Amino acid sequence: MKISFSLFFTACALQSVSAFVPTARASMGSSLDATVAGLVPPMATKDLATADLYDSKVQKTYGRYPLTIESGEGCYLKTTDGKKYLDCVSGIATCALGHNNPALTKAVSDQMSSVHHCSNLYLIPEQAALAKWLCDNSGADKAFFCNSGAEANEAAIKCARRHASNRGITKPVIISAEASFHGRTLAALSATAQPKYHKGFGYDGQMVQGFDHCKYNDIATLEEAVVRATSDGKGLAAIMMEPLQGEGGIIPGDKAFFKKARELCDKHGALLICDEVQAGMGRTGTLWGHEHLDVVPDIFTSAKALGGGVPIGAMLAKGEAATTFGPGDHASTYGGNPLACAAGLAVANYMCEHNILDNVNARGEQLKKGLVALAAKYPSVLGDVRGLGLLRGVECIAEDTTAGELVGAAMQEGLLLVPAGSNVVRFVPPLIITEEELDLALERFEAAVKSKA
Ligand SMILES: Cc1ncc(COP(=O)(O)O)c(C=O)c1O
Repeated sequence: MKISFSLFFTACALQSVSAFVPTARASMGSSLDATVAGLVPPMATKDLATADLYDSKVQKTYGRYPLTIESGEGCYLKTTDGKKYLDCVSGIATCALGHNNPALTKAVSDQMSSVHHCSNLYLIPEQAALAKWLCDNSGADKAFFCNSGAEANEAAIKCARRHASNRGITKPVIISAEASFHGRTLAALSATAQPKYHKGFGYDGQMVQGFDHCKYNDIATLEEAVVRATSDGKGLAAIMMEPLQGEGGIIPGDKAFFKKARELCDKHGALLICDEVQAGMGRTGTLWGHEHLDVVPDIFTSAKALGGGVPIGAMLAKGEAATTFGPGDHASTYGGNPLACAAGLAVANYMCEHNILDNVNARGEQLKKGLVALAAKYPSVLGDVRGLGLLRGVECIAEDTTAGELVGAAMQEGLLLVPAGSNVVRFVPPLIITEEELDLALERFEAAVKSKA
């Protein structure tokens, strides 16, 4: 049986190769042998001088720390020089279940050996099941899947524009907040009200049109922006906010502000969009950050922790927003493929079976208490402690030390952290972090702070 299968495979393979030979010769001007022999094979990763290759072959879009990651286990990452780091970054709020989680690994491996991609031309059970879980655990009616946070926000922006167009608005305005972060595609970047990210990407100095901004948590400037958005032939399409600003410096949303945003959207027939890319999937102690704010958005977006580190994004919508897109209006080749959705389902199952939200709340309080105590002990280095659940930040107020340098000092102590905004050190550990691991993180952070005091 085995032999006949391999004979069958060989025959098919030969047949398909011979079918391609004339095309390959015609288009590439060489024999198939020469073409194959001409390919340079990839290097084995163990032979890589990684830092040198980064300098010469990888575009410098990130400032990278000089750590070459070899493997991970739970809340730890191991580097090629054999050092182990306690990871309170988790791939920037992404590896919710930590590294090498057996349930996630098994789900992805099983899916890989079954079917990993087939396109959205067909029905994908894993996609439907993940959409149902997301809707069952939120106010959303339907999901659209994509691959990243920026894409999820791009989908939300397009949905809001189409929804406005259906209401006869030809100049739709989306209001977002100063210091927000919504991703790097052009529309998501235009929603991101941080001029430093816009530099050199405009057309005649302008980013994508149709965005206006207000101060986060400031009702007066929001109302002013709504007046601008509803005058001169324009119409309010949406108000788009993070329930807790992450990249902007760990700033939780204010209930009264979000209530007003909801009211203004209702008044003008516009959509309230919550960007849950960083705050969602349990990070703040509730499944969605907007639950802290007592509002139900028309649209919210998710990515990062949704796949536990396997790339997936989603735009969730309720009511009219859930049926605004029809066939052909929006799409993504990879979006919601079986592999990514199997990962999403593994994260969802794990969160349910292991009461992850309880852990986030308990560890979040422990982290808050620990940081507040350190801020009181080292008042020349640490300032305000902010955040919710396991999305916490502490201001670095030392005169001669930046948040980035404090993160560097923590790295020397074997602790990985990441800055947020201009002067905040952010803690976003895996949601499975234990009490002992968090105590160790605080101990190592104290050593770093002490070195800067
Ligand atoms: C709130 C928020 N929205 C969107 C994004 C962009 O997500 P991605 O990098 O997956 O495109 C991020 C990334 O940090 C984010 O924090």
